[in-house]
Amino acid sequence: MKNFLFFFTVLFSFSVAAQKKNDGLYKEKYRPQFHFTPAINWTNDPNGLVYYKGNYHLFYQHNPFGNVWGHMSWGHAVSKDLVHWKHLPIAIREENEVMIFSGSCVVDEKNSSGFAKKSGQIPMIAIYTGHYIPDSSKPDDYRQAQYIAYSLDDGITWKKYAQNPVLDLHKKDFRDPCVFWYEPDKKWIMALVLPQEHIVQFYSSLNLKNWKHESDFGPAGDTTDIWECPALTKIAIENDPGRSKWVLFNSVQSTMQYFVGEFDGTKFINEDPAQKIYRPDYGPDYYAGIVYTHLPANQKPVLLGWANNWGYANSIPVSPWKSAMALPRTLSLLKNDNEWILKESPVSDLSLLRKSVWQENVILVKERKLLPVKGQQLEIELSWKPSPASVSGLRLAVGKSNPFIIGYNESKQTIFIDRRGAGDTSFNKRYAALHYYEQSLSKDNGKINLHIFFDNSIIEVFANDGICVMTAQIFPEKQNDGIELFSNGATNSFDKIKVWQLKSTW
Ligand code: FRU
Repeated sequence: MKNFLFFFTVLFSFSVAAQKKNDGLYKEKYRPQFHFTPAINWTNDPNGLVYYKGNYHLFYQHNPFGNVWGHMSWGHAVSKDLVHWKHLPIAIREENEVMIFSGSCVVDEKNSSGFAKKSGQIPMIAIYTGHYIPDSSKPDDYRQAQYIAYSLDDGITWKKYAQNPVLDLHKKDFRDPCVFWYEPDKKWIMALVLPQEHIVQFYSSLNLKNWKHESDFGPAGDTTDIWECPALTKIAIENDPGRSKWVLFNSVQSTMQYFVGEFDGTKFINEDPAQKIYRPDYGPDYYAGIVYTHLPANQKPVLLGWANNWGYANSIPVSPWKSAMALPRTLSLLKNDNEWILKESPVSDLSLLRKSVWQENVILVKERKLLPVKGQQLEIELSWKPSPASVSGLRLAVGKSNPFIIGYNESKQTIFIDRRGAGDTSFNKRYAALHYYEQSLSKDNGKINLHIFFDNSIIEVFANDGICVMTAQIFPEKQNDGIELFSNGATNSFDKIKVWQLKSTW
């Protein structure tokens, strides 16, 4: 059976490579060209983000048999720069009625788990939720517990631990372990969620097999829907050398939130105002974001999320793949009066994709101005000082149907995105309804700056150096590729406008 599975895995990956050459994979309508997508079939959450021996590993929730959710297994890809990805065989497969749900991956440098048998061998350990369905005719009668698998060849092949599960509360919903090494106490920490209770639980372990409950965090912040996919990491404070804070992220269907505070190896204390909700992304399509473990000490944390929304994820009009990861984002923190704010920057190597640039230093706009460049695979930078009481900004995918609007409402001091009628909305009523997203944003020295990535069907907007980020999917026709500045209510002067055409990474 084992040999058969290995053979199948190898065959599958070769067949994907072969199809890529022959069938025009990565050239399909709406296919993102610089966001990660599996060659074929479904993906949701990123899993097991770990950096080891020069490789950024990306495991991901994957259905090997189709392009809707099901048969969850861990797909696998690696990258040297977080921009160009190489597909590898499926890492951990569904087996014996146990699906492989989300989780993390660590490098067990000291062989605390004892999985390495030869000296010098360093195991990688995947910690994931096993989703067990005893009777396939009753898929809702499931149980979730935490399982581990290990790799002795730097993450290429994986073996499930014979004595799984390693942490079982005999609960239905108990999932998404985020595990990392906590150096001050020389122990492993696991954060995971009780989704319905809106609780993140913390456990500790010396060997990744026996886990001790330490504390619970929550309910807190946004509790309007179930909690999933926690992630805890330390993030450096900008302009305060040597200081950092702990940031706890979690998903709340279908968005995310974060808390900033302290973690002492047993419990997390939120220090941001309890009544306020902070999100790493204020758009409709950002979920299940987690961070890389085992990064070099001098490297800032990197967050990677799934660019989709459970409200309509299965029905977006794309094939033969379905769903993409958002761009990896580098993290830092800012102190703003009495609150800590997350600052996110797209990873710097994305600039390797820049082709030709079009730029203009100043453009005055009374109502609208179509730029002499166009495209749907772009990076854009611009800034402006919004005139009093104006609504102004940029429109993308301009053409026959409605454009995608990114605007600033000066009276309300809010940034917004609006995808109403921008491209195909017919595939799902929920998608069509979720078209407008707005977030308050103060001007920075009187100005708003935007850094935008438009990748065929995914738009990511980083506002004011990444203190407010919005991600949204749109499905526009190819010919709707105009770019337009707009200003309602007053003339606005836009400066330092740059538009790059971007290369494909595939
Ligand atoms: C989040 C999630 C996780 C779960 C996985 C299943 O998107 O629901 O809680 O582990 O997806 O695919």
